[in-house]
Amino acid sequence: MSRGKHSARLLSIFAILTLLMTGCEEPAKTVFDPKGSAGESQLDLIMLSIYIMIFVFVVVMAIFFYVLIRYRQKPGDNSIPKQIEGSMKLELLWIVIPIILLAILAVPTLSTTFSLAEEAPDNGDALRVKVTAHQYWWEFEYPDLGIKTAQELHIPTNEKVYLELTSDDVIHSFWVPELAGKQDLNPGKTNTMWLDAKEPGTYAGRCAELCGASHALMNFEVVAEDRSDFDQWVAERKNPSSEPQTAEQKAGKEVFTQNCMSCHAIDGTKMKTKGDKGPNLTGFAKRNKVAGLMENNDENLEKWLKHPDQIKPGTYMPSFDYLNKKDMNNLKEYLRSLE
Ligand code: CUA
Repeated sequence: MSRGKHSARLLSIFAILTLLMTGCEEPAKTVFDPKGSAGESQLDLIMLSIYIMIFVFVVVMAIFFYVLIRYRQKPGDNSIPKQIEGSMKLELLWIVIPIILLAILAVPTLSTTFSLAEEAPDNGDALRVKVTAHQYWWEFEYPDLGIKTAQELHIPTNEKVYLELTSDDVIHSFWVPELAGKQDLNPGKTNTMWLDAKEPGTYAGRCAELCGASHALMNFEVVAEDRSDFDQWVAERKNPSSEPQTAEQKAGKEVFTQNCMSCHAIDGTKMKTKGDKGPNLTGFAKRNKVAGLMENNDENLEKWLKHPDQIKPGTYMPSFDYLNKKDMNNLKEYLRSLE
């Protein structure tokens, strides 16, 4: 193949890759536009390394082109240039300069890395969240508040939230591009990190470690609210309205008890829901997403209940395609009543 064809092909591959990497949704939400102080200090590190790399690139290219032009072979001159091997001065120069550059990069990198992994202070005021990753969903437990939830991490704005991260199965990685991360979640080990959000909003989170068939679908959201809204959310979670009101909801609760309860817990109901294999569904009706992925509406809920494996390949959630139309509708009614 000619060189021209080769580079044309390479270029088109890069073009496709660039398109893929920018993604189709919300391309503006990146680490380059942080919305919290953890994200800001990570951006500072990224910029520091980019500036050092630009500096090295420019200096090396300048020397390269200078040498290329200044020492090019001139017509009629066949002499051997002056040989410089073993020059102590030059050897020292190109050993010491990289060491200095690496030190400039290493010192802030190490200190930032350690400060971003800081654990919650012992004074009892800090907001702690235990994050447990599962194939393919996220569990968020607030041990000091007695709340367990899934897929949506609620935090108050302008406060450091301390995360204790672990995994139930394989290695995952917690990443909210605008706020903080990435931090691995390893089975049998707890890693720590903290994050904060300066403005209320919903921030997209991703799993950043290949963890199985639905790794790329293991999404979650961080919902940052003013302290008063957060307190209200806490109060609702602690005292959820989970008791069915209508006849459909009551029948739906029966369907839930028989089919879903061994895996899914709902707090605040009179039944003993002990399930913890799947996401805790307390307040499900108020979540933005079904399965952390699709808009939380009736149609998507039914799609998920009927064929979860078609939406998240490899999910442990079984198909509930066998429910008759009436049971399915009642179950949805019940789930939509969980506020
Ligand atoms: Cu979990 Cu990738």
